[in-house]
Formats: sequence, structure tokens, C-alpha cells
Amino acid sequence: MCGPPIMYKFVLMALKEAEVKPENIYLNLERKMKCGVGKCGHCQINNFYVCMDGPVFRFCDLGSTPEAI
Ligand code: FES
Repeated sequence: MCGPPIMYKFVLMALKEAEVKPENIYLNLERKMKCGVGKCGHCQINNFYVCMDGPVFRFCDLGSTPEAI
């Protein structure tokens, strides 16, 4: 899924209702990036760097990072 961040919450609720497994949900997390190589921290979400680890993540990998969504 990709789109405006507010949409993610509602699409995730719909996917849960449709019993889509979290490991089958992929999210594009867009963050303001600066360096793009994991040095500046602008895109950091806890221990993830969107520029280096993403920008596409599996939902099940973000389970302990609710602020990512
Ligand atoms: S953009 Fe600088 S760490 Fe990701």
C-alpha cells in the first residue's frame, strides 16, 4: 500500500477484517529524507532507517513500531 499516511490506518483495518495476514501486507513508508545513506537520521523510525531498510516494509516487521504508521 502507498498513499497518504492517514489512509494506512483505515486500509489496515479493512485488511485485518478481510483476514489478510500481516506478513502479506507491504507498506511504503515515505519520510522526508536528506542524505539517503543512513547518516543524517532524518528518516529514522526507532531502529529502522527508511532510506536504507525500506522504503517498503512488511507490516509484520513494523509490529513493535506503531509510530511508523
Ligand atoms: S535520509 Fe539520512 S538517514 Fe535516511
